[in-house]
Parts: sequence; C-alpha cells; structure tokens
Amino acid sequence: MLQKKNYTVAVVGATGVIGREVVELLEERNFPVHELIPLASERSAGEKVEFFGRNWAVEKLAGSSFKGVDIAFFAAGTAQSLAFASVAVSAGAVVIDTSNAFRNDPAIPLIVPEVNSHVIPRHAGIIANPHSSTIGMVLVLKPIHDAAKIRRAVVTTFQSASGMGKNAIDELAQQTVSLLNFRDIKKSAYPHQIAFNCIPHDGEFLDSGDTTEEIGLANETRRIMEDDTIRVTATSVHVPVFRCYSESVNIEMEKKIPADEIRAILSSAPGILVYDDPARNLYPMAIDVAGKDEIYVGRIRKDVSLPNGINLWLVIDNVRKGAALNAVQIAEHLVK
Ligand SMILES: NC(=O)c1ccc[n+]([C@@H]2O[C@H](COP(=O)([O-])OP(=O)(O)OC[C@H]3O[C@@H](n4cnc5c(N)ncnc54)[C@H](OP(=O)(O)O)[C@@H]3O)[C@@H](O)[C@H]2O)c1
Repeated sequence: MLQKKNYTVAVVGATGVIGREVVELLEERNFPVHELIPLASERSAGEKVEFFGRNWAVEKLAGSSFKGVDIAFFAAGTAQSLAFASVAVSAGAVVIDTSNAFRNDPAIPLIVPEVNSHVIPRHAGIIANPHSSTIGMVLVLKPIHDAAKIRRAVVTTFQSASGMGKNAIDELAQQTVSLLNFRDIKKSAYPHQIAFNCIPHDGEFLDSGDTTEEIGLANETRRIMEDDTIRVTATSVHVPVFRCYSESVNIEMEKKIPADEIRAILSSAPGILVYDDPARNLYPMAIDVAGKDEIYVGRIRKDVSLPNGINLWLVIDNVRKGAALNAVQIAEHLVK
C-alpha cells in the first residue's frame, strides 16, 4: 500500500478512450494527485490534457517517463504495457494495467475491487484490470455464487465500438454516414463492416474454434471468483453500438433459488443496480447505462429448461466500470 498525502500519477495512453476517462475520474473522485504525467505516442506529444483547471502537456512515452511516479495507469495497448510496465515498476511506481498483457499471469493480481480487493496487497508492482465483459459478469455472478454456488454460466456479449478504441468509434461513425449516403466504406479497426452488422469475432481464433477473448473471459472469471470448478463458456460479438457492453447470461446453480430472491440478492450487492420491471418495459439498455458507474441488471427470470437455472441481461459501461473506473478504484484501495 502507498502512504503519502499526494501522489505523482502517470497515465500512459492519456489521449485515448480509456486514458481520458481515467483522467476525468481522478478529478471527479478527487484522487489525491500532486502531479499528473500524461503520456502517449509522439503523434500527440505536446497536446494538452485538462485536469483540475490546469493544462498538462502530453509527453512521448519513454523509458525515462516514470521518474518519481507513484502510480502509473497503463491504457495504451498490450505492446506498450509489455514494453514499459516493468520499467515503471523499476522506477518505483505501482502499475495498474488495463490491457490484456498480464491478465493470464497467475503471479499478477487480477482485480475487480468489489469482488477480490483482498488480493491487491499481493502485488509485486503490477495489478491487472480484467476484460470489460469479465468485470460485468463477475460483479453479478459473485453474489449469486455466494448464495447458491454456480455450476456453469453461458454468456453472449454484445460489445460496443468504444471497446476497440478511438479508431473503432470513428470507423463506426464514418461507415454509418457513408452507407446512408450510398458511398463506399473504409475498414481497418474491424475485419468486416461494423455499421449495421454484428461480428462474432473478438480476439484471435484458437484451434478449439473459440477466440482468445472468449477463453479469457472464462479463465478470468474463475480466477477472480477464486473457484476453478465454475464452468464458463462465452460467445463475444461486436455490435454497432458506440458505448456499453450488454451480456446475456444463463446461470446453472447447485441450489434452487427463485428469480425474486436473485433479484433481492443482486439489489444489495455492491456496484449493481437492478433495473427490472418488464411490465413497464424497463430493462437495461446501452443508451441508458452509458456514463453510469453501476452494472445494470434486468430480465432476471427462471430458465424453464433447467431445474436450477436463471437467465439475466446485464449492461456495463465498458469505458467506465469496464476499464477506467475499475482501475481508479484499484488505485483508491492502494492509497487507502
Ligand atoms: N476501450 C475499452 O473499452 C477498453 C476496455 C478495457 C480495456 N481496454 C484497454 O485499454 C487500452 C487502451 O484502449 P483505448 O480503447 O483507450 O485505445 P485508444 O482509444 O486507441 O487509445 C490508445 C492510447 O494509447 C496511445 N498509444 C498508442 N500507441 C502508443 C505508443 N506506441 N506509445 C505510447 N502511446 C501509445 C495513444 O496515443 P496517441 O493519441 O498518441 O495515438 C492513445 O493515447 C488497450 O490496451 C485496451 O485493450 C480498453
């Protein structure tokens, strides 16, 4: 744990979707920052980041960037994390990494604070943020697991363009405008047209036919919930939505718990807002959850095909709790 009054904080990728949100959240949550060091590629060196009424100049990420840094948020992609996280740690910083560089490393804590903050003190310099889809899943699965022991979860994710960074957001906007104007489209962030389309492909395909992200979601869930017996299978889909990931989750439990009780359990769980009133057409939707801190959960109902099964639908703001907020909450634990 860190014990100072104010901290020198570096944000690697400060001009990106997640880095910008981290800076906003540090200000919004009044994190004790003495000096902010925004870092990016040489493309944005010299740009300004506004923080607490002051403009901080973006610097090019380099080996010398971390002198005197206490906490370094990494949000510049896997390659940058692999290249510079250990450099930051050697300079004395604690790294909170939002990429997938360290998520599979059993020696590096993988944290969703509401679920496993007790693991944070085991870090040796680096702490990893899980995939946005995992964060949404475990927040909902953990309280159900504590009450009824989950045997198996089947999840399908509906992932927004912001999850792929600023280029993907631009690509969705530009393709939409081009297609509505009968013009040709350009694609680079996705392997196919994303506007007016769903792409069932996130990550690299493995021999099993699953993708790395789908297997990652299953492994990360078991790690964070500290129970290797939970079986998880996933299908991850990119959808033409700008912000928020939606997830359809089917859960098989050891104990039979009615949907009403699940609703009550989730209503008192941290980080969750139950939004579930089908009679009034109320259920979580991306357009309502964008900008929110909580995971919204609805459509909670018995799975009629299973004796102990539940279906539900959750929505998480992938930029906020799915990445930046989770990272800032980890930092808050470090300085508590
Ligand atoms: N978006 C999400 O919902 C989400 C969720 C969970 C995790 N993540 C992870 O967060 C990380 C950032 O994602 P993002 O969505 O914020 O991406 P993004 O919008 O594309 O931003 C990327 C950031 O990294 C910087 N960068 C790129 N190459 C660099 C280099 N060679 N050296 C230094 N800085 C470099 C960019 O700086 P320039 O402006 O100079 O190009 C920009 O600040 C990724 O690892 C991603 O997997 C994202």
